[in-house]
Order: sequence, then structure tokens, then C-alpha cells
Amino acid sequence: MFKFEGANILSVNQFDRESIEYLFRIADMMQPYAHRQKQTKVLDGAILGNLFFEPSTRTRVSFGTAFNLLGGHVRETTGLSSSALAKGESLYDTARVLSSYSDVIAMRHPDAGSVAEFAEGSRVPVINGGDGANEHPTQALLDLYTIQKEQHAHHAGIDGMHIAMIGDLKHGRTVHSLCKLLCLYQNIKLTLISPKELAMPAYIVDAINNAGHECIITEQLEGHLDADIVYQTRIQQERFASEAEANLYRGKFRLNQAIYTQHCKSNTVIMHPLPRDSRADANELDNDLNLNPNLAIFRQADNGVLVRMALFATTLGVQDIIQKYEAPVCWYSNKRDTVN
Ligand code: NCD
Repeated sequence: MFKFEGANILSVNQFDRESIEYLFRIADMMQPYAHRQKQTKVLDGAILGNLFFEPSTRTRVSFGTAFNLLGGHVRETTGLSSSALAKGESLYDTARVLSSYSDVIAMRHPDAGSVAEFAEGSRVPVINGGDGANEHPTQALLDLYTIQKEQHAHHAGIDGMHIAMIGDLKHGRTVHSLCKLLCLYQNIKLTLISPKELAMPAYIVDAINNAGHECIITEQLEGHLDADIVYQTRIQQERFASEAEANLYRGKFRLNQAIYTQHCKSNTVIMHPLPRDSRADANELDNDLNLNPNLAIFRQADNGVLVRMALFATTLGVQDIIQKYEAPVCWYSNKRDTVN
């Protein structure tokens, strides 16, 4: 079993199935705090250094929210140009200094391998919030947690399921990490739908095949959507040489309610790491799906807080004493209902 306490979380390769199941049980325990039924102050006094050197809304805010919900405090740095990295400081020096100010660090950076390099200089655990097109381990964990929950609601598990991944599979770090995690499970069918220029990297396809899974690679959406999970992604424009090049692929694989009705199963679950690109020339996941109860994208984003709380609790070693630091919630808290 992976030793979470004090560990960096840099890649999904670190985990085995037992460790993931353990982490997901801790994530389940976080629900009453995330739902504001009660609060815990277990991390009161602890500081999260939340360093985001690439655009982010969900990941950055959910890391911060997760830490706050455990009673901890968040110190945030956003943007490369506003940090000393823009003055030529090395990742090592930045890490050495900022880790003295923090108890744990979450970091996103545009370069593959940068978060691991940063971790070399860090005196506290570093959690990878996305390093270029390489990996996004916490997203993959929350995706897998969501898949487990959604499959469970359909009386099924992760083993034996069929997942179709769509879009920019070349640059999408979330699908890279998710595929690697799925290699820990059994008998999965993966349908990888993308333009051939944006196909899943060969080393990941090899890993899928070596895990004994069935892997179908296609450029066609139609005829391939009768999956348990359809995982749509955004064209990762920031990883292309030019916007014009990204435009060649934008909007190629749109999903809307009509396509869903025609090609998906009646209970196919739709996921997306978000943000979905809702501009007219992309519109990869149409708003008319918002009324479809199988659209799991917002449940998926909510699960991100639970999984990140579990990661903070385990890396800081407080997972068994959370209840000891509980307090009631004394403000009005009753979130309005929505379809999804
Ligand atoms: C993803 C990312 O940053 O890789 N977003 C996220 O963290 N939820 C996907 C994307 O930006 O398309």
C-alpha cells in the first residue's frame, strides 16, 4: 500500500488498486464536511501553498476549498509572469523558499516534468495540479471516483466497463492519467475517438493493451458511443503551435441531446474534466444536455473537492482524527436543487 503521509503526489503511477480504494473511502468520509452538514478544524494553522502557473478555475479553487474545509489556510500564487520565475529563478529555489512557508504545496505548470523538478527542492509534500500535457493525477483520481460512483448507481463496477474518450487525446493530460489508472482494473473496453493527428500517445495505448484491456482507436463518433461512460474533452489550444492549427480540430466531435438519443445507451454517463468549450465553433458538449440526468460533469467537479480533501488529509496524516476536531455549522446552509 502506498504511504501517503509526507509523500509527493506527482503521477498516477504511484498508486496501486488498494491505495486508491483506501483513498476513496476517505473521500466518502469527507461528504458531510463538503456538504456543510458539519465542519472540522483538523488542519487549523496549516498552510497550503497553491501555486498555479497556468490558467485554472476548478482545480485551483477546489484545492483551496478542500484545504479550507479541513480548517486550513490557503496562500495562493497565480500566473508565471507575476512570480519570480519570470526573473529567471529556478524551480528548485522557488520550491526551497515557498516550502518553508507552507505545510503542503499544490502546483500547476505548463511544462511536462516541472512539478517533479519543483518537488526536488521542496521540504513539504507537493501535489501535481497538472504539468503540461503530461499528467493530472488528482483529476484522474476524481474521475475514477466519479466513475465508481456512477457505475455503482447502475449496479456495476469499474472492472468490465466500457468507456469512450473523445477529442484531443494527444495533449489531454486528464485522459493520459485516467488511462494509466484504468490499467489497474480488469477487462475494460476503451474506445479512443480523435482525429488521427490528436490520437492517444502510443506508450499509453501500449499500457492499455498490456493491461489486457480491449482498445479501439477510431476517428468516428457514430457507432462508438454505446458505452457506460463517455468522456468528452476540450481541444487543448494552449498546446498547439498556433490558434489556427487548433481551429482545424475544434468542433469536430460535438455531443448534444440528439446525438446522445441516437447513439448512446439510455443510461450512458457523460463526463468532461471541464472547462467545456461552449463557443459556437467548438460546443463539444451542448447546453441541451444540461437537463439530461446522466450528465455527470457537475457531480464530477463536486467530487474533486472530496478527493482533494482525502489527499490533503492522508498526505498530512490526519485522516483518522478528523472527527475529533468537528464543530457544528452555524450559518444558513441549504443549497438549492438543480437537475444535475
Ligand atoms: C483540465 C486540465 O487543466 O488539464 N482541466 C481541469 O483541470 N479540470 C482539462 C482542460 O483544461 O481541458
